[in-house]
Amino acid sequence: MQGAPRTRAHAGSAPRRIYDRVAPIYDWYDTPMDFLGGRARRRRLLRRARGNVLEVGMGTGRNLEFYPEGVRMTAIDVSGRMLERARRRAGRLGRRVRLQQADVEALPFPDASFDTVAASCVFCSVADPVAGLRELGRVVRPDGQVLLLEHVRPRNALLGKLFDWLSPLTRRAFGPEINRRTEENVLAAGLRIEQVRREGIWREIVARRERLPEAAARA
Ligand SMILES: C[S@@+](CC[C@H](N)C(=O)[O-])C[C@H]1O[C@@H](n2cnc3c(N)ncnc32)[C@H](O)[C@@H]1O
Repeated sequence: MQGAPRTRAHAGSAPRRIYDRVAPIYDWYDTPMDFLGGRARRRRLLRRARGNVLEVGMGTGRNLEFYPEGVRMTAIDVSGRMLERARRRAGRLGRRVRLQQADVEALPFPDASFDTVAASCVFCSVADPVAGLRELGRVVRPDGQVLLLEHVRPRNALLGKLFDWLSPLTRRAFGPEINRRTEENVLAAGLRIEQVRREGIWREIVARRERLPEAAARA
């Protein structure tokens, strides 16, 4: 499990400050990732989206073009400056999306309100990732799906140590921690991993709410 405990009131303030600062250059520095398989990963994962969709940590809206036509989109981000860019991108693409500034650790939606909840490269930046992932489990419908594209700490011991060492620097400079154990965090948040595609440090995860044993569900 990763992420220092924070009070809810302050959970998103550090990422908000960092991403408000990097918003003007985010697309510029993230674009090389597109040519290293980023677009294919986003497309492969997000074509699964169905129905009423929530994207958390939408950033500048780099996923918007990959959602199937016909889904109803809501998206949140803690950074207003990132959302301004997402709004402009949605306009350019002609995609309707309800955008809201909010913290994934305290989502402003009722339980079980979405068929699909998606995120890409978000749980590297959220202050308490398990708390955020638990919120995803709360707002997704019992038969819904959670789609995650995340980079994680390398399994190789030496690289893992290197990423541990570099992580405080990447956090301060751009926002993400590069040594998160997101698969473990998903499980710690009470979600069930149905499918995972592992490619280097990348994980494409399809998760669902853990099914409660019948007796517990009735209680
Ligand atoms: C690395 S960017 C990824 C943006 C986008 N998902 C993408 O794939 O390009 C991480 C995003 O997560 C957002 N974020 C970080 N912590 C958050 C939180 N607690 N609640 C909501 N959004 C958060 C940041 O503001 C930023 O837009």
